[in-house]
Amino acid sequence: MSPRLEGRGISVRFGGLLALDRVDLEVADGAILGLIGPNGAGKTTCFGVLSGLVRPQSGQVLMDGHDVTGASPQRRARAGLARTFQRLEVFSGLTVREHLVVAYRSRGRNVATRIALDCLGAGRRPFSGEDEAIETILDRLGLTKLAAAPAGALPLGTGRLVELGRALATRPRVLLLDEPSSGLDADETAALTELLRSLQAELDLSLVLVEHNVDMVLGLAHRVTVLDFGQVIADGTPAEVRASEAVQTAYLGAAP
Ligand SMILES: Nc1ncnc2c1ncn2[C@@H]1O[C@H](COP(=O)(O)OP(=O)(O)OP(=O)(O)O)[C@@H](O)[C@H]1O
Ligand SMILES: [Mg+2]
Repeated sequence: MSPRLEGRGISVRFGGLLALDRVDLEVADGAILGLIGPNGAGKTTCFGVLSGLVRPQSGQVLMDGHDVTGASPQRRARAGLARTFQRLEVFSGLTVREHLVVAYRSRGRNVATRIALDCLGAGRRPFSGEDEAIETILDRLGLTKLAAAPAGALPLGTGRLVELGRALATRPRVLLLDEPSSGLDADETAALTELLRSLQAELDLSLVLVEHNVDMVLGLAHRVTVLDFGQVIADGTPAEVRASEAVQTAYLGAAP
């Protein structure tokens, strides 16, 4: 069976910088792939290529074995790909529920304020199944009580859950999460880890997790790909990656 998402030989150059150098990675059905590496290793660039925002100089992206290298982010979203962003961005004037409604209705379109307002415009009736789907997501993420709160005023940890909820509202089969635990404290990170583990199983998601919290990744992922200076320096099970000398060197001798 084809992997749900696959990158083959992906290279990206920004001017003189080779940000990704023939990177291969793959995520099987219902699996969690960890993507780790030091600052500037190319992790976010890799998400850009997989989601269609960054065009690679060479290489291919495949979903379920189909080549989507030239497909727009919207087409990939309709095929079931969703991502979150490293830097949290919310519409300060919209409530938590409205964020999910916009995501549900726009399904991965690159939502500008105008589109968001259009989605919510007066007289727009909910899409069929929308209310129930959104209540389920709010409930699952523990956001029901905050549904009517303005998203711009939330603490970072809650904002990250809204971002996750938005991605889930597009009904993904593959979810790319760029540093979901960034800025969270230890308790929040532990709760997020459990939430991701159970969501992955319940929704049969394939997850790709970019994280600086290496312990979180090694505890959660089925397989891990390690990037350093744009190259894959290790790829394997968490135990194999933990034991890899190249990985320990990349992290300056610290045990990952
Ligand atoms: N749009 C761009 N134009 C020029 N250089 C870029 C661009 N985006 C990223 N880079 C460079 O490419 C390299 C990889 O960046 P990227 O953001 O993918 O790394 P990362 O692994 O996500 O790092 P971090 O852990 O800090 O988020 C870095 O050297 C970065 O400065
Ligand atoms: Mg990054």
